[in-house]
Amino acid sequence: MNKDLQSIQPDRPNIITTAIDAISFNRKMDTEATVAEMIAGKYVLVEGVYSNGLQLLTELKRDLLLKHDNKSFQGQRDFRSAFREASHRLLLKVKDNRLTVKKCPDIGWLELLYPDASEFYISFPEVQGMNSAWQWYKNGIEIETLNLTLHPFYGTYFPTRFDHLKLFDKWLKTYEGAKDNAIDIGVGSGVLTFQLIQNGFKNIFATDTNKNAIIGVSQESKRLGFEDKITLNHGDLFENCDVKADLIVFNPPWLLAKHKLEEGIDKAIYYEEELFPRFFEQAQKHLAPDGKIVLIFSNLAQVVEEESTHPIIEELQKNNRFRKELHLRRGVRASSKRTKRTDSRTNEKVELWVLAPKEKQ
Ligand SMILES: C[S@@+](CC[C@H](N)C(=O)[O-])C[C@H]1O[C@@H](n2cnc3c(N)ncnc32)[C@H](O)[C@@H]1O
Repeated sequence: MNKDLQSIQPDRPNIITTAIDAISFNRKMDTEATVAEMIAGKYVLVEGVYSNGLQLLTELKRDLLLKHDNKSFQGQRDFRSAFREASHRLLLKVKDNRLTVKKCPDIGWLELLYPDASEFYISFPEVQGMNSAWQWYKNGIEIETLNLTLHPFYGTYFPTRFDHLKLFDKWLKTYEGAKDNAIDIGVGSGVLTFQLIQNGFKNIFATDTNKNAIIGVSQESKRLGFEDKITLNHGDLFENCDVKADLIVFNPPWLLAKHKLEEGIDKAIYYEEELFPRFFEQAQKHLAPDGKIVLIFSNLAQVVEEESTHPIIEELQKNNRFRKELHLRRGVRASSKRTKRTDSRTNEKVELWVLAPKEKQ
């Protein structure tokens, strides 16, 4: 692993380490009145049992839904933003890396992410997010194509559906080119990099803008014994990369952002307009003579909004840099047998694109 990476600190939820002026809420108090205070801007500290906080959030949701009964897209957006703002005023206290309320989940991130803070306040929704992330980290997620269970680090994107990985696996098994160097842009929880290694690639330069992804893949590659084959880097696209690759793989975010992107998971799902033009421009400079780009994508944006553009098709049509060598598609199955597919995602297909540089005339 790159030496500089040892100094990377994970992104973690904000905490309050100073004294706060807050209403202490316990079961005997009036929920509606407390929620009204929260909406008005007051901090509320959950006392007693953890579920007292859940009770307040349920009441907050009910109250705000009454005020935001407009079912339009904008109306729902306003509701979500009001809920987000007020719910973050609901706080829990942490002492010695544990929540101080009773009957609460045991969340290891409180120790792993905050070794430097012994007593602090943190918002209830952040704790809920950490709890869910802790379950995934602790129990792991089985990745069939790898025949491995991965343990995604806090704040890192990981797959819960696997069709794109199967598509990539199928293609990798037919790949006959050189396997000396590959670049994995947006390594996430490491799945594509690990697939490359299992299929005989010798060196992978794996990079991500999300610090937590880099920390997580570093831990996982040590655990799995892949450390010698991976160079990890924290940065934007090909930043710090001087490799010429036989293969550049990128499973980018699939939806064009209509909001300002936040660090972390947001950038795994949404992309800014300039991401793809920047990627293609830089990729051209990082390909070995017979190198190829493999992009994993989806028609999700078109399923949600018919008019939306497809950044890979746009690149092929507008610029004279790459030619399409292959385009595979595969239907997306529900993430669990219990999930009923009645939503628009029924038409969703994952795509694998193989592009090669156009020969100069
Ligand atoms: C859809 S996830 C894919 C993760 C993983 N490769 C996989 O297939 O499961 C996209 C990843 O790209 C990363 N990413 C987004 N923009 C990036 C950029 N400009 N440079 C490097 N990584 C980026 C995100 O942080 C995220 O981890």
